[in-house]
This record gives sequence, C-alpha cells and structure tokens, in this order.
Amino acid sequence: MILKNFIVFEGIDGTGTTTQMNNLGKRFSAEGNNRICFTCEPTEGETGKLIRRILSGEVRVTADTLAYLFAADRNEHISGKNGILRLLETGYAVFSDRYLFSSLVYQGESGSPDLPEKLNKDFPLPEYLFLFDINPETAMERVLSRAAEKKSGTEIFEKAEFQKKIREKYKTVIEWYKRQEPDMNIITVDASLPPEEITEKIWTVVKNMPKIM
Ligand code: TYD
Repeated sequence: MILKNFIVFEGIDGTGTTTQMNNLGKRFSAEGNNRICFTCEPTEGETGKLIRRILSGEVRVTADTLAYLFAADRNEHISGKNGILRLLETGYAVFSDRYLFSSLVYQGESGSPDLPEKLNKDFPLPEYLFLFDINPETAMERVLSRAAEKKSGTEIFEKAEFQKKIREKYKTVIEWYKRQEPDMNIITVDASLPPEEITEKIWTVVKNMPKIM
C-alpha cells in the first residue's frame, strides 16, 4: 500500500538529509503551510532511544536483534498514537528522515540477508522516496567533521568500507522497488550539489503538499 503525502529521504550516512529537512521546513513555513510534519528513524520513542545506544556502541546486541528493534520502532512510528497514519489522516504531509529502506540496506548488509525483508514487508510505502546519492569518501568526511564539531564519537555503521557496500545495496534495493512498485515515485538526488540547489529540486516536487485551509 502506498501512503499519499508520505515522503521519505534515504541515503548512506552523511548525505545531508537532515539539512534538507530543515531547509524544507523553513520553505513551508515561509509559504504559510503548517500542515507539514518532519520526523525520523530511529524515532525519539523508547525503542528509538535504545537503538541510539546500540548505534553509539554503548549497548551491544546481534545484528538481527537490531533488525527486530528497527522494525518495532517503525511499527510505533507508523501505527502508534500520533503516528504517521494518524497524522496523514488528519491532513498532514509527513516527511521521514529514513524508513524501511534503511533496514533493507543496513540490516540486509550486516545481518541475516532475508530477515529485514520478512520484518518490513507489511509496512506501507511512501508516495515519494528521495534517494540521496554521494560518493562514500565525501560522505565520510562530512560524518567525521560533524563528529569532531559535536565532540562525539562515530556510530557503528559509520565506516568507509561499510558505507561503500551500503551505497551499492541502496542501488539494488531501489531498482527492485522501481520494478515492483511503479506507483511509488523514486527520485535520486545528487547529494554532492550545493544544499540550496538540492532544496530547490526537492521543493519543485513537494511544494503542492496539502495546505491548511
Ligand atoms: P541517521 O539518520 O544517519 O542518524 P544521525 O545522522 O542523526 O546519526 O541514522 C542513524 C543510523 O541508523 C544510520 O547509520 C543508519 C542506521 N539505520 C539502520 O541501520 N536501519 C534502519 O532501519 C534505520 C532507520 C537506520
């Protein structure tokens, strides 16, 4: 099932999806559109918080346990109180920084290859999927300078070799969806372009999202 007015951003670590969410937020506000909601995975919920501790390396679990946790977090994100379904029903457009495609790619690459698909096959799909593509070297430079700025460490997946595999896996997963789900709009974004230029490109696609009357 495809959810209208649901938009997802995906890509390897360090592609700038969070910056784009912020830029679009400002753009929608300037247009007087307050019917837009920005969200992300892992979520701010309790499962999401546990996932963050795992990603930082503080808590250790198997790769497959992490796949289950991401799916549980996602279920709450979609179906929980004030979740994405509820927001869409009440007339919001929802942008999510990552969604099930991250699980298919990251957990597919790090754990049992078939498990992410089993866990994620019943979640609804977005109307638009923007895949932010960039070479992993540039992305890792961004990740490392951000970590230095924040005086924080890097997360478990933020390693150049792994990110290279992830970029390739995204391409495979996206090709599969293009064939299987032609009604889902998949747009690849060149994430090496200046941020304002990227915002402009996305804006041309999403500017007509619902407005409060
Ligand atoms: P990310 O959006 O990069 O968070 P931040 O930039 O704020 O640290 O997501 C955190 C990490 O979680 C990233 O490496 C991708 C990973 N991830 C998965 O492995 N599976 C998933 O299902 C999701 C949603 C994220």
